[in-house]
Amino acid sequence: MRAVRTVGALRAALAPQRRAGARVGLVPTMGALHDGHVRLVSRMVGECDVAVVSIFVNPLQFAPGEDFATYPRDLDADVALLDRLGVDVVFCPEADFAPALVTVRVGALGGVLDGVSRPGHFDGVATIVTKLLNAVQPQRAYFGEKDYQQLVVLRAVATDLAVPVEIVTCPTVRDADGLALSSRNAYLSPSQRAAAVALPESLRHVAGSWAGDADAARDALRRRLERAPGVRLDYAEVCDPETLEPLEGVVEGPAQALVAAYVGTTRLIDNIRLEPRPVERHRSSAED
Ligand code: PAJ
Repeated sequence: MRAVRTVGALRAALAPQRRAGARVGLVPTMGALHDGHVRLVSRMVGECDVAVVSIFVNPLQFAPGEDFATYPRDLDADVALLDRLGVDVVFCPEADFAPALVTVRVGALGGVLDGVSRPGHFDGVATIVTKLLNAVQPQRAYFGEKDYQQLVVLRAVATDLAVPVEIVTCPTVRDADGLALSSRNAYLSPSQRAAAVALPESLRHVAGSWAGDADAARDALRRRLERAPGVRLDYAEVCDPETLEPLEGVVEGPAQALVAAYVGTTRLIDNIRLEPRPVERHRSSAED
């Protein structure tokens, strides 16, 4: 595995295989790798000829006062893990990789849900991912459903800016008790870790009782999370999975339930798909 720090070295490392027609994959990360990242990387290694992982704690996606300075970093362990997983190139750029002059603006999709509490966050994500896609020029880039709004935003980036990449999505990887794996879980004390299970539990409950009523599902989600000890709700929404617009009343198609909540000072997010219920078919007498 090669570890490179500059776009020049990255391009040089990839050039021979690219000339030979290799299929290049990319998993962008901020490091502090866990099994959620591992799932993305393993899938890429299985599907691509050249597997690239980037590790960059992107300052542009942290608002002032957020955890940029304290975000967990363990580059040596990350590089050793990626080597074991069969990654070909790990790209760990310096801080000046974050563009200073030109950035991507996401618009309305970046202003809802997480964008309300984290203004500018999705502009920062879209800017750095666009730059990573341009630097690596992968045929496939892999992202987790755990960060659902990020996924929707990045699909829009690829479509609206005509980036020639296939966005591949991977299901959320969870601990045994259901908590979605996240680098930020490292901030949680044992009692906070126990309280955090309210997020997946409330989502699972709503998915289990989903009968197509978006208002009822949203209310149930909010009620459960507002009552959960040690949890301070930021938002709980039931949205159109493609546009992220809030759904109202009874809906026919699929929906996405999304939540964000603070446990102590740690902000956690999670989401679940609400699948349409198969319509019950009553056997008519003609079928008897
Ligand atoms: P990071 O939080 O390191 O996540 C990197 C990738 O791993 C993202 O696509 C994320 O959705 C995925 N991921 C994280 N936890 C996961 C889990 N439990 N199950 C499945 N996938 C999971 O997301 C970012 O970094 C950054 O915003 C980035 C895209 C790298 C841009 O800076």
